Amino acid sequence: MSAETVPGKDSATAEALDGPLLEAHGIEKAYPRGMWPLRHRVQVLRGADLTLTPGEVVGLVGENGSGKSTLMKILVGALAADAGTVAYAGRLGYCPQEPVVYERLTCDDHFELFGRAYAMTDEAARHSRSALYAALGFERYATTRADQLSGGTLSKLNLALALLADPEVLLLDEPYAGFDFDTYLRFWDLVAQRRTAGRSVLIISHFVTDEHRFDRILQLRDGGTVPK
Ligand SMILES: Nc1ncnc2c1ncn2[C@@H]1O[C@H](COP(=O)(O)OP(=O)(O)OP(=O)(O)O)[C@@H](O)[C@H]1O
Ligand SMILES: [Mg+2]
Repeated sequence: MSAETVPGKDSATAEALDGPLLEAHGIEKAYPRGMWPLRHRVQVLRGADLTLTPGEVVGLVGENGSGKSTLMKILVGALAADAGTVAYAGRLGYCPQEPVVYERLTCDDHFELFGRAYAMTDEAARHSRSALYAALGFERYATTRADQLSGGTLSKLNLALALLADPEVLLLDEPYAGFDFDTYLRFWDLVAQRRTAGRSVLIISHFVTDEHRFDRILQLRDGGTVPK
């Protein structure tokens, strides 16, 4: 069990976390904006709550700038909240909205690097890598440098790195934005496999055209999450 406590709240929820794989309570976040003397803080999250239980696929929607990526960055620990608690069990896999890759490294290099970071055995990393190349159809780019990949292939690498260690909790920020339709369908196959295996998946999406693919959809509105 891992727990992160952010200022202003206690960590009681972390110990109380039994069923859910991830639980966030009362998340608040403001960003500074403007130059002095007009400098002020813009409140983006005002006590957002979110719970993910094993085997559920949850959608997170909301208009541009509503704070979806901010919330996900806080869940994954990439950004500090001003208040609230985040607790989770197992490992987190994160697919950021903007791919974070090393320009000079190939796809294979990335898998090797992330496999080590996740403390996977070489065999497990190779096995998972092959399955992901096949599932998303980008094996032919295995030895291509990241700065020479097309936008869609870069998105595949970004997603595959989040899936590599088969984490208990998957946090995906608009993962299929650059995918062609065939890849989009393959993406949902991968998600279905994870759901069957009892993983929790949170997917930020703009246009939820396939609502039936989600178990629940949450909307971020006025800094809080409400069922859609
Ligand atoms: N590093 C930052 N510094 C200042 N303001 C920020 C920063 N990051 C985000 N914001 C602001 O916080 C608000 C929420 O941004 P966020 O990226 O979380 O929205 P989003 O819901 O993911 O939007 P989109 O649908 O466009 O991806 C926006 O008004 C944005 O301008
Ligand atoms: Mg975003």
